[in-house]
This record gives sequence, structure tokens and C-alpha cells, in this order.
Amino acid sequence: MNYFKKIMRFAWPYIKYAWLNVLFNILYAIFNVLSVLAFIPVLGILFGREDKITVKPVYSGFAGLYDYVQNSLNYSVSDMMESGGVEKALLFICLISFAMFFFKNLFRYLALYVLTFLRTGVVKDLRDALYRKIVSLPISYFSEKKKGDTMARLSNDVQEIEVSFLNTLEAIVREPLTIIFTLISMFAISAKLTLFAFILLPVSGILISSVSKRLQAKSLLAQQETGNFLSVIEETLTGLKVIKSFTAEKKMEDKFERSTSRLKQLMNSVLNRKNLASPMSEFLGSATIIAILYYGGRIVLLGEDEMKPQEFLGYIGLFYLILNPAKAISKAVFSVQKGNASAERIMTVLETENNIIDLPDASEKINFDHHIELKNISFKYKDEYVLKNFSLSIPKGTSVALVGQSGSGKSTLANLIPRFYDVNEGEILIDGINIRNIKIKSLRELMGLVTQESILFNDSVKNNIKLGIDAATDEAVLNAARIANADEFIKDLPNGYDDNIGDSGNMLSGGQRQRLSIARAVLKNPPIMILDEATSALDTESEQLVQLALEKMMENRTSVVIAHRLSTIQKADMIVVMQKGEIVEQGKHTDLLKKKGAYFKLVNMQSLG
Ligand SMILES: Nc1ncnc2c1ncn2[C@@H]1O[C@H](COP(=O)(O)OP(=O)(O)O)[C@@H](O)[C@H]1O
Ligand SMILES: [Mg+2]
Repeated sequence: MNYFKKIMRFAWPYIKYAWLNVLFNILYAIFNVLSVLAFIPVLGILFGREDKITVKPVYSGFAGLYDYVQNSLNYSVSDMMESGGVEKALLFICLISFAMFFFKNLFRYLALYVLTFLRTGVVKDLRDALYRKIVSLPISYFSEKKKGDTMARLSNDVQEIEVSFLNTLEAIVREPLTIIFTLISMFAISAKLTLFAFILLPVSGILISSVSKRLQAKSLLAQQETGNFLSVIEETLTGLKVIKSFTAEKKMEDKFERSTSRLKQLMNSVLNRKNLASPMSEFLGSATIIAILYYGGRIVLLGEDEMKPQEFLGYIGLFYLILNPAKAISKAVFSVQKGNASAERIMTVLETENNIIDLPDASEKINFDHHIELKNISFKYKDEYVLKNFSLSIPKGTSVALVGQSGSGKSTLANLIPRFYDVNEGEILIDGINIRNIKIKSLRELMGLVTQESILFNDSVKNNIKLGIDAATDEAVLNAARIANADEFIKDLPNGYDDNIGDSGNMLSGGQRQRLSIARAVLKNPPIMILDEATSALDTESEQLVQLALEKMMENRTSVVIAHRLSTIQKADMIVVMQKGEIVEQGKHTDLLKKKGAYFKLVNMQSLG
């Protein structure tokens, strides 16, 4: 319930729809009851039991409202029977009933109509808030949590909220109102009989709900098992090659069949309870009504003034009106419980604290004029330090190559400079200013990043290159593509620069995609470039093209390069050799080779990164 309230805060902007919904539901509930009550005089006429009322009744306050309405109707009917006979009176009553049913359903529609705007509004705002949060959260958040899980929260859980919470909203106002208005009328017809029904109702209600509760518990288990067996299928399809080559088919089959057996057993139990639910509730409902028929019939037969036959029939009609709302309310309660789990999953994302944020006095804009300094930095993802007491100075306009075996912390270092993570100890300075004191946006505007996997978005070539730089002219885009050696293949695409990557992304080779990423960095034209194995996923031919593009881009720029190709490393102004998060050697290519130390070994093993 706690999370229900939190989600309901998203409904505030739409509160006027909620009030309109309440208003229309009140009108609906009134006409709902009236539509049944209007039949009572008709029945009276058909039975020939209606006492004629020839004096116009007077309104005598709320307590006598029911009698007043009935008497007024009777008066009109009597009047009409005087002037035009029974048939005219019957027609009159039928027209009134017709109008009642029309208004009842009109207001029911209007109540749902206004609720729709609240419903879709809340869903949109929830999704938007989640998306904004996801984009703003630091990268570290997503390496801990699975991406699929986050997607499930954005889609399934929001969907669940829409169905459960908002369906509940629909029931929460309408059904209790219907029950209240119906009960009032039932009391007005016969207080005795209503009290009697009140003793019976809870008994059958409890019996019915106990069946449905156990049904719900089992069906939840069945849902989980369905998820389980779907994941076996997914695992199998992605790993089909491995399963076949290790002839593990039998093992996977057993696993799958264990899951389907469990599902079968659960479904037997679920379906049979479901099969039981409807006959049982019909039987219990009928039993209740038969009891009421007996008890109410006796009241009528005894001929006391308590209740006339036509009123008794109207009463039974009202009783039916109460059954559905009662069911709907118990369903709504279960729905809220189910939705609460989703609400919790959504709220935990929304309430996650972002620890990489601007300090209140962070400086807006800085120019990079002198050097980047890493001063005694230590960093750990979890418990173990990945970088230990690491210090390095990179003067403006120079290039530094980081080399070392895989896992030595090169990528980690590259991620610390744009502040994707914060260092645990020490500081990173740009021109002497700690990067924590620079606005994150300003800091990242100084940098361009090209990583091993080229990340393209479902958009045109042009917009992919222009990412984040909306003001760029077509000419600038073309120029950037030329520098990145991408212009040639882009020109050959069916629609050139307007070709959609999403449609033809698969047609692009790894090297072509990487050159688009480089063009993007070139267009941004940042003073600092960070390249993390930008060419290592490519085949030799496209690697050379990309390599040339990279070299053109790095000219006169400060760059941190992680590469495995000797030719790239050789050209760096300084080479830093890392081992387990520490610097073991540092210097120029020729000097380091002469040392015959760690660098020499790496070069000989050709395992530079
Ligand atoms: N997101 C992460 N969460 C936890 N540990 C990580 C994460 N990324 C890398 N590591 C660990 O940090 C160490 C350094 O990794 P990395 O910087 O990627 O090395 P390199 O780029 O030199 O191959 C490795 O031991 C790796 O397992
Ligand atoms: Mg790496």
C-alpha cells in the first residue's frame, strides 16, 4: 500500500479528471438504482395490484424520499390510467425506464472517459520519469543491475501499474457508490428482509473468496514457472551451437521437461479451482437468493404492509445489482496487492540516489590549457582495488598510450577521466582544478570517446554523426566524415547521409560503423580524445582504414589511447605500461625497448592490450 500512495503522486496533475470521475460515478449509481426501481409500478400494473393514488404527493424530507418518488410515479401512472388506460401507462413507464438506462450508461461511459486521461497521463509520466532517471544514473548503476531487468521495469511493471492500480481506481469509486445506493433502496423497500440478507451474504461471500484466494496464490506460482521455462528456451536458443557440440541435448531436455511437469501440475490445480469457482459462486448465489425468496415471499404472502409483490421483485433485481460490485471490490483489493510489487520495483529505480552529480559550487566552463593530472588515485569497483596509487601527468597536445595485459585497469582509467566513476582516493585535475569541481556537462564537453564497440542509434547517418551537436551544418558533417574515412562508403549508401542506420545497420561492416563513431568524435572536435581499443574488434583491412582515420583525428590533440597495435603505440609521446592497476614502466618506445623490461616482453608476446 505504501508504494501505491507513492505512485498515486503521479496522478496529482490529473486530479480534475478524478473529481469528474467521482461526479459521473455518483450519477451512474443513482440512475443504476432508479433503472430497477422504475419497473416496480409496471409490475404493479401487470399484477393489477397497484393502489391508485389520486392526490398529488408532497415532498416531506429526505427520509421519505423513497416513498415520495414511488408515490409520484404511481400518481402519474394512475393519472394516465384514468385518461388513457393501462396501455398508455405501461408505455409511459417503459419510456421512463428507457431514459434511466440511457442515463445510467451515459454516465458510466463518461466516468470511464475522464479516467482514461488520468490513466494514460500517469503511464506516460511514469515512463518519462523512469527514462530520465535511467539516463541520469551513473554507469556504475547498470553494471550492477542487469539491463534486461531495467527494461522489464520500464515496460512490464509500468504496464502492471496501468492495469492493476488504474483498474482499481475505476472500481474504487463506482462499486462502493453502487452498493451504497442499492442498499439504501433495499432498506427503503424492506428493512426486515435487508437485515436477513445481511446475515446470509457474508457467509457465501467468505466461501467464494476463499476459493478465489487460493486460486490467485497458485496462479502466481504458475506465472513464475512460466517465466522459468521461457528462460530455459531462451538459454537453449542462444546456446544451441554449444549444446549440440557438447551433445548436451538430453540434459537440456530433462531440464525443460522438469519445468513443464511442474507447470502442468500447477495448471491442473489452477484450472480445476477455476472450474470450481463459477459453479460454486452460482450455486451459493442462488442459494442465497432462494433463501431470500422464501423469507421475502413469506412477508409478501402474510400480506403485512411491509412489502408489496412488485416491490419484492424489484428487491430481487436490486439484490443482483449488489453482487457484481461486491465481486469487483474483492478483485480490486487483490489487484492492488499485485500492483504493489510492480510499484516497488519502479519506485526503487526512481528513488536511487545519483552519486555522480554537480557540486553546488562547480565551475561552469573551463578551457583546457595546460595538463591533465592524475594524482595518487586509487579506485575499486567493489572490494578489490583496480587502480592503486596511480599518478600520471598528460601535458596538453601530447598523446599517452596505455598498454598492459587485459584486466590491468586500462579501461577503468579511461572511464575515470570523464567521471563515469569517481575515484576512491586521490584526485584528477584539469589545469589544476579537481574534476569534481567542474560541472559534469562542461567536463564531458572537453572530451571525445571512441570505444571498442561502436554505438549507433536507430537514426540517419547524419544524425548519428551529429549526436549531441544539433547545430552542426551539413558541410561540417561531411568534413568530419572525410577525416574519418567514412565519406566514401556513406556516399554509396542508397540515401547517402540520410540513410537510416536502423534499417541498414546490419549492412554496415564493423569497420564502417567504427568510422561513423570516429566521425562523430571528429565533429565534436574536443581538445581531449580517449580511445579505448577503438580498432581491436576489426579485421585487418578495415583496421587500417580506421587507424588512418584515428591518426588524422589525433593530430594536435591531447589523447589517451588504449591500443594493441604496435604502430599506434610507437607514435605516442609517452607509453605507460600497467600491471594490476599500477604503473610498472613509463617512457618512449625506443627507451622502453632498450630496458628489456615489461614493455619489451609485451611487444615480444604481441599482447599489448
Ligand atoms: N564494471 C565493473 N565492475 C566490477 N569490476 C570490473 C568492472 N569493470 C572492470 N572490472 C574489473 O576491473 C579490472 C580492470 O578491468 P579493465 O579496466 O577493464 O581492464 P583492461 O581494460 O586493462 O583490460 C578487472 O579485474 C575487471 O574484472
Ligand atoms: Mg579494456
